[in-house]
Amino acid sequence: MSFPRTRMRRLRKSPEIRKIIQETKVNKEDLIQPIFIKERLKNGQKESIPTMPNEYRYSIDDGVLFGKELEEKGLNSVIVFGIPIKSNKDELGSSAYDKNGIVQKTIRKLKEETNLLVISDVCLCQYTSHGHCGIVDGNKILNDETLKYLSKVAISHSEAGVDIIAPSDMMDGRILAIRDGLDNAGFEDVAIMSYSAKYASSFYHPFRDAVSSAPSFGNRKTYQMDPSNACEAIREAELDLLEGADILMVKPALAYLDIIKSLKDNFNLPIATYNVSGEYSMLKAGIEKGYLTEDAIMETLISIKRAGADLILSHFTKDVLDKL
Ligand code: PBG
Ligand code: ZN
Repeated sequence: MSFPRTRMRRLRKSPEIRKIIQETKVNKEDLIQPIFIKERLKNGQKESIPTMPNEYRYSIDDGVLFGKELEEKGLNSVIVFGIPIKSNKDELGSSAYDKNGIVQKTIRKLKEETNLLVISDVCLCQYTSHGHCGIVDGNKILNDETLKYLSKVAISHSEAGVDIIAPSDMMDGRILAIRDGLDNAGFEDVAIMSYSAKYASSFYHPFRDAVSSAPSFGNRKTYQMDPSNACEAIREAELDLLEGADILMVKPALAYLDIIKSLKDNFNLPIATYNVSGEYSMLKAGIEKGYLTEDAIMETLISIKRAGADLILSHFTKDVLDKL
């Protein structure tokens, strides 16, 4: 049947009718707020991040307070990122697996003082003097050598009580190495959310500024994926699944909505995606300038959900909780 019997506008005629036919909804529990914790920052002195309007670097106490305030607004999960002081960075990223490192301390406090689900980013780049995600030999980023360090990071976060670890390094075989490490240390209940399809993207730029993790030489193209490749994302996801990942992630989100859809269609695991710093700052800048209105934020999050993401890590989380 077609026009005039069929009229698509019948189901759009009021807010109430539009509400009952809405196919995609973003729920509070779908959203994960990143929290930046900076070593030695004094309480009450959160630092603004020039390239990320309304995101801050916090001391441990203030970061936990930020989490608590969002929890009161209905937040379910956070992902913690650490920013060590420069003198604690070394070739092997050893402050990343220090029992009393910033992330480890933050995890402990979050678990003590909130009921939030706590996720931690597992990587070396913020902690290495060269800023790469792996151990370096000359200009080469060593794959197999890096695995044991990643495993140490994951175990130290688990000892602090983390619920889910999220490896973002893109070394081959890391999920297997980390799963083995966790299981041997008695952490078989700690889940792994793998940054499976993580592209070498310029949309990470504000984040690297926020956490001082830009590589001191070269770039990340020998480990992160080429933005041109879609089939390769399926291979990456397949390997992570076989190695023991519990949740698969696509990163970034917006320029990769097709990849989210393809992973959702091809795998029976929960699919997460990271609506990264550049995607956040781009919209924020547009809104600040008056080129766009705030509504662009929800529209963006809905597009990510509609593409098939079950979970969204987003810097917008704090901005939209009130509206959900
Ligand atoms: C580090 C890491 C990055 C992000 C999360 N973990 C940046 C990178 O790979 O250089 C990006 C997050 C964001 O842009 O919000 N492995
Ligand atoms: Zn990294």
